[in-house]
Amino acid sequence: MIIKEDIKQMFQVENIRKDFPILTRKVNGKPLVYFDNAATSQTPKQVIDVIVDYYTNYNANIHRGVHSLSQEATDKYEEAREKIKQHFNAKESHEVIFTSGTTHSINIISNGFSALLKEGDEVIVSALEHHSNIVPWQMLCDKTGAILKVIPMSQEGELEINEYDKLLSEKTKLVFVNHISNALGTINPIKSIIDKAHNVKAAVLIDGAQACPHIKPDVQELDVDFYVASAHKICGPTGVGVLYGKEEWLNKLPPYQGGGEMIATVSFEKTTYADLPHKFEAGTPNICGGIAFGAALDYMNAIGLETIANYEGELLQYGTEQLLEIEGLTIYGTSKNKASVISFNLDGIHPYDVGTLLDKMGIAVRTGHHCAQPIMDYYKIPGTVRASFSFYNTKEEIDVLVEGVKKAKLMLS
Ligand code: ALA
Repeated sequence: MIIKEDIKQMFQVENIRKDFPILTRKVNGKPLVYFDNAATSQTPKQVIDVIVDYYTNYNANIHRGVHSLSQEATDKYEEAREKIKQHFNAKESHEVIFTSGTTHSINIISNGFSALLKEGDEVIVSALEHHSNIVPWQMLCDKTGAILKVIPMSQEGELEINEYDKLLSEKTKLVFVNHISNALGTINPIKSIIDKAHNVKAAVLIDGAQACPHIKPDVQELDVDFYVASAHKICGPTGVGVLYGKEEWLNKLPPYQGGGEMIATVSFEKTTYADLPHKFEAGTPNICGGIAFGAALDYMNAIGLETIANYEGELLQYGTEQLLEIEGLTIYGTSKNKASVISFNLDGIHPYDVGTLLDKMGIAVRTGHHCAQPIMDYYKIPGTVRASFSFYNTKEEIDVLVEGVKKAKLMLS
């Protein structure tokens, strides 16, 4: 564990902030306070430069041309795949599939399993999932006759692992759980969830969209079958993400989309598919996005995920203490094991109204159900105000938020 003094020496937030041009802008005449990092992180100039360089110097289609630009773009794209492989500690680079984001990654797997499941098989999701880790599995169950079971949650926003134990049986074929809840910030005990699923020979998909900004997952150590994430939560661009899958699973699953690049041979009688990873990468991909994803991982790794998580932990603690000073404010999601996400409401005030007033003060938060309606139903609320902190945020910005919430409460009471 790094002690606080060490963090201060290694990590100068004012220097980090200089990497993010957007943080100097004003919104509604006020300095921007960006606390919607769980929706999209901001982009450092090191990544923006990579995007500009791509379109300025070597924009071309990949894996297709013999010409130099195409080869250069192909090399950089495959270098990015290698960086992702290393970051997630995948065994092989062909276990890394580029996608358009977490939702696309999940849909590749849910579509693939529709060829492998049969009526009466069971699949397990958790009560803490984002809609993108619920709806594709409901569609899979509709197609196959498989049954969807749900691990319930507690008042603290934690999964009831005893209930998970009871749901598992030889009928269980798949388990889908997020690593960190987007709505509450709870960090789920995924290693034990994976091990227990493997005891009944079920495969496990972990939605890492919210975890990757804070944690470096080691897919071999986790022994996870599928791990999915998006670049735009980790300082990369939107429209690009990753599907990690164990080679044996990816070989078993059918392709998701047909098209160019995913074939070995095509005739009107029969098409054979390309080897991994291309089998799942039909069509021209987001080439620049993939390369920038690699640069974003370089950026995060240069700071260090442990350093980031430690600093964000301080912000979480400070923000929680300060917000709880406000009378009538309730925080949803009080697990001890939490990422830097605070979901809250003010008594009798709609979260949308709070969010709108905060925006007038230059403060960006997300309001609503956060694509996690079952969580809101559990708490019997329409939604929350969600402030999510990143390593480029400061305690001073949290003070601005706290003052803003106090003002909103006065205006709306
Ligand atoms: N899933 C993203 C969020 O939680 C968009 O805001």
